[in-house]
Amino acid sequence: MSRLNVKLGDLSLKNPVIAASGTFGYGEELENFFPVESLGAVATKGLSLKPREGNPMPRIVETPSGMINAIGLQNVGIEAFIEKKLPYLESKQVVVIANIFGNTLEEYVEIARCLQPTSVPAIELNISCPNVKAGGMEFGNDPVQAARVTEAVRSVFNRHLMVKLSPNVTSLPKVACAVADAGADSLSLINTITAMAINTKTRKPMIANGVGGLSGPAIRPIAVRMVAEVYRSVKIPIVGIGGIGELNDALEFFIAGAQAIQIGTATFVEPNAAHQLVKDLDSYLKESGINHLKELVGTLKWPS
Ligand SMILES: Cc1cc2nc3c(=O)[nH]c(=O)nc-3n(C[C@H](O)[C@H](O)[C@H](O)COP(=O)(O)O)c2cc1C
Repeated sequence: MSRLNVKLGDLSLKNPVIAASGTFGYGEELENFFPVESLGAVATKGLSLKPREGNPMPRIVETPSGMINAIGLQNVGIEAFIEKKLPYLESKQVVVIANIFGNTLEEYVEIARCLQPTSVPAIELNISCPNVKAGGMEFGNDPVQAARVTEAVRSVFNRHLMVKLSPNVTSLPKVACAVADAGADSLSLINTITAMAINTKTRKPMIANGVGGLSGPAIRPIAVRMVAEVYRSVKIPIVGIGGIGELNDALEFFIAGAQAIQIGTATFVEPNAAHQLVKDLDSYLKESGINHLKELVGTLKWPS
């Protein structure tokens, strides 16, 4: 399937389909559905310095064409990931993208330091997290904070650094440029959009945390717009995320400027979605007489 291979800077993927963080566990969870190594890469569940239990239930609610989650970044912690989860992914020879987050810049740096001596070829930096030392504002909401955390992680991790952007900002291109200038190798976008659903009988939010992150087809047009805007602003590769479930969804993102894509919520609806998409993309290119996927990337015809 050489018409599908992708180079995100120095990171080579056999195809552009990546399992999105938080929707694919640590890779093992989906092994009864398809061979994990058929994907371009797997982005792990978000990893923190210490294990986290996450938020109280209920923490997922279905909404029109989407879902809101407030899992609270439950995960095994970086040490247990390296000892107990990474060996499985290594045995499968799939590209591992370790998604990491922290509540302080120092935490991000410490996790990246732990990953440097491992075989993990790439980090995805989730900057949609509150910086407790800066009054709780999300790192990703402020170009200065976003650049600072990127630069700090860059200085301790010398392989591929992908920065995952938060859509909950006024100008994503500004954050994207700041992060690119700070040394990111690629950008992934978007993370979930802050949202709420209310039980009108109890008048309480449907999820215990109050607010959560909206994902699924409902956010796709927003994500496509953001990819198209960011593509015009930065030179580094973009990985598109948001409501992708099938071929046409993916094509929108490639045309908007993404070189690769991630599949999140669709896996909950159809566990084979990512695997099927690899096959559908290949057939589409073949049938359309397109020699390589890159011929599609960024071919959007903006109105003049
Ligand atoms: C249940 C759930 C858990 C998630 N956990 C993480 C996470 O740990 N780290 C992260 O960066 N993004 C996380 N995300 C965001 C997804 O990776 C993705 O950016 C988002 O859901 C949009 O893509 P989708 O519409 O295809 O799901 C999570 C999403 C869902 C639905």
